[in-house]
Amino acid sequence: MTPRPKQIHLAAHFPGVNNTTVWTDPRSRSQIDIDSFVHLARKAEEGLFDFFFLAEGLRLREQGNRIFDLDVVGRPDTFTVLQAIAGVTTRLGLAATINTTFNEPYELAKQFATLDHLSEGRAAWNIVTSPDAFTGENFRRGGFLDYGLRYDRAAAVVSAARRLWDSWGRPPRIDRAAGVFAADEDLAPVDLHDGHVDITGRFEVPRSPQGQPVLLQAGDSSAGREFAAGHAEVIFSRHGTLADGQAFYADVKRRLPAYGRHADDLKILPGVSVVLGDTRQEAEDNARRIARQQVGPQTAIAFLEQVWGTDLSGYDPDGPLPAVDPSPHATITRGRVRHDRDPVAVAAAWRARAETEGLSIRDLVIAETHRQQFVGTADQVADEMNRYVQSDACDGFILVPHLTPGGLDDVIDRVVPRLQDRGVFRTSYEGATLRDLLGSRPAVSFAAVPSGPSAASGPGDPGPAASSTGRRGPVGVRG
Ligand SMILES: Cc1cc2nc3c(=O)[nH]c(=O)nc-3n(C[C@H](O)[C@H](O)[C@H](O)COP(=O)(O)O)c2cc1C
Repeated sequence: MTPRPKQIHLAAHFPGVNNTTVWTDPRSRSQIDIDSFVHLARKAEEGLFDFFFLAEGLRLREQGNRIFDLDVVGRPDTFTVLQAIAGVTTRLGLAATINTTFNEPYELAKQFATLDHLSEGRAAWNIVTSPDAFTGENFRRGGFLDYGLRYDRAAAVVSAARRLWDSWGRPPRIDRAAGVFAADEDLAPVDLHDGHVDITGRFEVPRSPQGQPVLLQAGDSSAGREFAAGHAEVIFSRHGTLADGQAFYADVKRRLPAYGRHADDLKILPGVSVVLGDTRQEAEDNARRIARQQVGPQTAIAFLEQVWGTDLSGYDPDGPLPAVDPSPHATITRGRVRHDRDPVAVAAAWRARAETEGLSIRDLVIAETHRQQFVGTADQVADEMNRYVQSDACDGFILVPHLTPGGLDDVIDRVVPRLQDRGVFRTSYEGATLRDLLGSRPAVSFAAVPSGPSAASGPGDPGPAASSTGRRGPVGVRG
């Protein structure tokens, strides 16, 4: 019997960060109206997607001391949006990108447990770590966390949240005659103290349908990958090309056995976009047109300024790149996700490419910032997506549309049926929770999670209830 091919996982990314979204298109709608969220979420559910995904930023970006308004400005509160979407969908997972640096674990545990209850088991947490001081100015402690400690804090925050979720061993036992609604033994006290977390008490929210929400991670460094191997069930990756995806996939999956986990326990989903046409030629023409809409003249110069760290508004976007080198430490952008790269080396590589390929500033920025796109007819795109998944470049995709909110309508109407024809995508929702859709194992008791090779100093869990006093705190048990 031929083995069943690997199944593809799909998620819908609500647009709203960077220049992927074309806000100038007359079909673009609000990034904040409820109708926009409802449209994309309902469409994703119609397409039997695994989950709906919200990215997040915690401060308006600036460039050259002005609000950076070349892509979307303004973002509503993630939990409020997802609770609203929970009310108009029934099976779609709901993934919230939430930063571990500037948030407190007790509050987060409560918000995610509530989302999991109200959505009946569909909550997911995309764990991000950016600790930049500019963002921190919106929060009580400012830029309190050294960049090198971002995953230490993430591990402490996530471990604390897991312990809180786990502290309700079983749903409350209600004995109306005796007037008992929760017995002490159902609900372990939590006593957690380390450099990042200080919690003593009992958790307010009873065990949610998934026990714990699904954990996603977005972060690319070796520490980030190790963190994902220890904690996450999904990685949102930026490794969208075949070769790059295969290298990333192999690197992350080989880290799992050290945490007692299997390759299938962690799904890798790169963010990609799809451009369709009735013929390949038409799709390629569409892709070129969209890329030029995404990188207009001002956006091209703004990208260059982010590398050069200085005002380049005097340059012609249709002309050659600056001959001067960037100053290595200057920065003009604030509030953008940090990518470690040497600006002088990047500038040299960009100039070399522009010269070899005869590219203007705008052409070069389009070529360099171009996300992996699946471009072709619906059949060609379905074949290509499937090839990536079957050849272990990923386990599926987070689809990033270029239009809000209808940018995935075509993909869902035309590509999903082709994936179903090929036997690689579900034809109905099965199981009750997001964890079921992802094929993840049920949430295990915190105490049962192996802490991995670097638990003492690195990204693994700190071990059961370690406290600064050396006491063993109460341990959450699972009924
Ligand atoms: C694909 C991807 C998506 C990300 N999305 C967000 C986001 O929406 N909000 C955010 O604050 N950080 C986001 N980040 C940033 C990461 O959380 C992290 O701070 C950053 O990548 C640095 O960690 P690293 O050194 O492990 O890569 C994203 C990172 C990646 C790779």
